[in-house]
Amino acid sequence: MSKKILLDKINVPGIKSYEVYRQNGGYASVEKAINDMGADNVVEEVKKSGLRGRGGAGFPAGLKWSFIDKKSGKPRHLVCNADESEPGTFKDRYLMEYIPHLLIEGMITSSFALGAHLSYIYIRGEYMWVYKILERAIAEAKAAGWLGKNILGSGYDLELYVHCGAGAYICGEETALLESLEGKRGNPRIKPPFPAVSGLWQNPTVVNNVETIASVPWIINNSGDDYAKIGIGRSTGTKLISASGHIKKPGVYEIELGVSVYEFMNSDEYCGGMIDDRPLKALVPGGSSVPIIPHNLIYKTAAGEDRLMSYESLSDGGFETGSMLGSGGFIVYNDTACIVRNTWNFARFYHHESCGQCSPCREGTGWLEKVLNRIENGYGREEDIDLLWDIQRKIEGNTICPLGDAAAWPVAAAIRHFRDEFEYHVRFPEKVKNRAHFVDEPFEKVRHLLQKQTV
Ligand SMILES: Cc1cc2nc3c(=O)[nH]c(=O)nc-3n(C[C@H](O)[C@H](O)[C@H](O)COP(=O)(O)O)c2cc1C
Ligand code: SF4
Repeated sequence: MSKKILLDKINVPGIKSYEVYRQNGGYASVEKAINDMGADNVVEEVKKSGLRGRGGAGFPAGLKWSFIDKKSGKPRHLVCNADESEPGTFKDRYLMEYIPHLLIEGMITSSFALGAHLSYIYIRGEYMWVYKILERAIAEAKAAGWLGKNILGSGYDLELYVHCGAGAYICGEETALLESLEGKRGNPRIKPPFPAVSGLWQNPTVVNNVETIASVPWIINNSGDDYAKIGIGRSTGTKLISASGHIKKPGVYEIELGVSVYEFMNSDEYCGGMIDDRPLKALVPGGSSVPIIPHNLIYKTAAGEDRLMSYESLSDGGFETGSMLGSGGFIVYNDTACIVRNTWNFARFYHHESCGQCSPCREGTGWLEKVLNRIENGYGREEDIDLLWDIQRKIEGNTICPLGDAAAWPVAAAIRHFRDEFEYHVRFPEKVKNRAHFVDEPFEKVRHLLQKQTV
């Protein structure tokens, strides 16, 4: 069994409640931070741990904390990003639902480190039942003296609120989230200024993912050095993976970073292998925004090294042959999956969720959806494949926020690795009009038809 630091107590009966959480060592990091360490040393430990943001980009958490503007004298805030709307990602929900006090403890310890007296958890609107769980946990923590005025008699005050989104994916982007939290439409802001200088109500603000903040208590209770010993290279610690798709055991798993993709997919401790033992076709390792990789690049990198569950190994080879760890939304596809259909599905999502501020994203995501729709449904043209390539290329890097890139990358990767499947759709429209085309006849069985017919 690999080391667990987030989910180690998840099966303790009653761990959702304050009493049981406290009996099991809960809130010790708050005591240690406030009574023994002081704010700056907490930041130092998080820096030493090498903990990287678990929301997707993997930016070092301690470094982000050290950027917060302390000189301006303005109030500072910590905002927890619990928007979790990336297709394929559901690990933050699991943490908040089953061990809510871990997040509350992390919020208090981290807010103390940043000198924040007013902090928020911004949760997606669809997680209403989790919102209620967090509200209850906050009330329990407050009643026990961990929130409010003069925490532990130290003079440190902290108020913590949960705020519900209204169902927009873009509100997971940190500056759109801050706009939404201020009561406005969730439009991403142009950066700089970054939130660490001008965030919530123009005050210095740190935005961190749920899992990032929930990792802080362990780091403070043990040490940054101990955390850095877990994992591999610059991928320190453990990571929650939301595993779904054609695997025997979908679910949320805590892995030590550095375990091989093969082991994660096939061992009984994790995914348990492919459902019905069908062939593996493709993998999206980090949520819908990251490039899809074909079966020959999943267990081994292009250089022939074992592919590992780490930031570096999953991106080995760049976008030509690699992908990204992202938010850890691990989606597995077997030979019955249609890559064109999957790409169309993702494109529909990004088009629907574009906030519309930038033309390349607003217009381009619509075009991607439209062209993919006609290819998947048997009305595509040969030149549509190059058209798709051209559209995604014009979106990438030309927008205010990374949603544009997130819409472009899956399309580019699908064409890069599965171009023959797109060609099949265009050349055999009558076959793909059957919605279950690859369920009835997996692509490997009909691929030979492409050789027979040229356009
Ligand atoms: C379109 C979009 C959606 C995002 N959604 C989320 C999300 O649901 N949860 C999250 O933590 N980060 C999300 N992010 C990343 C955040 O902008 C930000 O980088 C993150 O919350 C920082 O926390 P971390 O450093 O702890 O990862 C999203 C980014 C983009 C561009
Ligand atoms: S990239 Fe898309 S979602 Fe992001 S600001 Fe521009 S239009 Fe809005």
